Amino acid sequence: MSADIARLIEIVGGDNIITPNDPQIDQYLWDSRHYYHGQTMAVIFPRSVQQIQHIIIHCTAQNIAIIPMGGNTGRCAGATPLNIAKNIIINMRHLNKIIAIQPHNNSVLVESGVILAQLHQYVAEYGKFFPLNLGSAGSCTIGGNIATNAGGHNTLKYGNMRDAVLGLEVILPNGQIMNDCNYLRKNNTGYDVKQLFIGGEGTLGIITKAVLKLAQMPINLQTLLLCADNLDKILPVYEFIQAHYPGQSLALELIPRIALDLVAKHYGADKLPFNQLPEWVILWELDHNGDSSDGLGEMAESGLISDGLLAQNAKQRDNFWQIRSLIVEAQAREGASIKHDIALPIDKIPQFINQANALLHQIHPHIRPYCFGHLGDGNLHFNLSAPLGMDNTSFMAMEEEIHQKMHDITHEYGGSFSAEHGVGRIKIKEMQKYKDPVTYQLMKNIKNTLDPQNIFNPAVIF
Ligand code: FAD
Ligand code: MLT
Ligand code: ZN
Repeated sequence: MSADIARLIEIVGGDNIITPNDPQIDQYLWDSRHYYHGQTMAVIFPRSVQQIQHIIIHCTAQNIAIIPMGGNTGRCAGATPLNIAKNIIINMRHLNKIIAIQPHNNSVLVESGVILAQLHQYVAEYGKFFPLNLGSAGSCTIGGNIATNAGGHNTLKYGNMRDAVLGLEVILPNGQIMNDCNYLRKNNTGYDVKQLFIGGEGTLGIITKAVLKLAQMPINLQTLLLCADNLDKILPVYEFIQAHYPGQSLALELIPRIALDLVAKHYGADKLPFNQLPEWVILWELDHNGDSSDGLGEMAESGLISDGLLAQNAKQRDNFWQIRSLIVEAQAREGASIKHDIALPIDKIPQFINQANALLHQIHPHIRPYCFGHLGDGNLHFNLSAPLGMDNTSFMAMEEEIHQKMHDITHEYGGSFSAEHGVGRIKIKEMQKYKDPVTYQLMKNIKNTLDPQNIFNPAVIF
């Protein structure tokens, strides 16, 4: 046993560490899509902030890189140690206490290993709502949500994870603990340093606690499927909703017909509540003190939608949302996929989709683009499956060219190559190419100041 492993065992105990001779380690070495596989000296499961502090002090002294890991659901291999000579993974699953809720302050203090869905359940018992929601809610952690500044379904009304964070506790690369567990809504006392760790992807330190903002539980949630027969209807529907239901929409999710076909293929047509599959569906959820079927009628009469369904009960609502989440799973079942997580000005979305599809079909006439996602935030998951009959290896050989062309036109439209998933280890070239050079240099300066030895999550972002 190496001296490093012996010291780490001394800190956390032999039951809270696994090393490469243990077959269990493999699950922590794959990224969430099973595309990237890393290597590590050990995966460590600390049980206290003090243990993490001692681990960091040891690793900094011995130049061992640290990879923070939450639920390992990230989409950019940020928690996967690829080609890093000496590294350990710190998995946060044991720091999973909801420490205290402050109902009158609409806030809650949690450890960073709390699973998002558990927080949802816990605060619901107090009539409160934690708005961030993602397809991975059952496995992702609050620390991972903060480190990636996660987005998801309810950004339209409540913002990203950044908007939900009031305060943080972070252990820095030098072992110091930054205690900024602020509860106040107003606290203008110089630089808001915690913002650096939100979206910092574990490159500046490890988040151990967070104070999060809560909202009141929405009491008039209504969930609808709006069917449109062509792409030109999407923006007018969006504008109608914004004008007639201002501030009330939680989610506006775009689903193309090709994705419905895929859900039917892999999970059965009975998952879809349509007689005939529409070309486009918008999944709309709003908190509205009235009957949104009035709006449905108006949109149908004016020809904006060809059909619409309003969920009549909780089960139907779950069924509508299940269609949305099955898209991601159905595409994984279909084989390899080339993913894009892009942000665009909303008014350019239809034009962009047409142009991007044409470009992709020039690269290969039978490529299958599944363009779905968070329409209300201008965030598209423009994911591609292989032409039918093409093997995965030949398809993935086109990945680099496709990413480059897709990200180039996204940039031309004033968009971003990473809307909500982050940069991780897989979009570093894009950072160099598209990020404003002065901002990029400032980011590097911040990294060098906080982590001069580049201990925390090397080769992520930069
Ligand atoms: P991990 O994957 O473990 O880590 C992600 C990054 O955060 C890594 O760089 C890691 O080093 C760092 N990190 C983790 N914990 C800490 C910590 N305590 N301190 C410092 N750094 C840390 N994302 C969205 O934004 N919107 C979506 O709609 C969405 N949908 C998804 C649907 C599915 C089915 C899946 C599988 C993923 C989805 N994701 C989505 C991506 C993913 O769930 C989010 O990025 C999530 O926030 C990651 O949380 P995690 O705990 O799994 O983090
Ligand atoms: C989603 O919105 O479903 C996810 O962000 C897509 C993904 O994880 O690929
Ligand atoms: Zn998403």
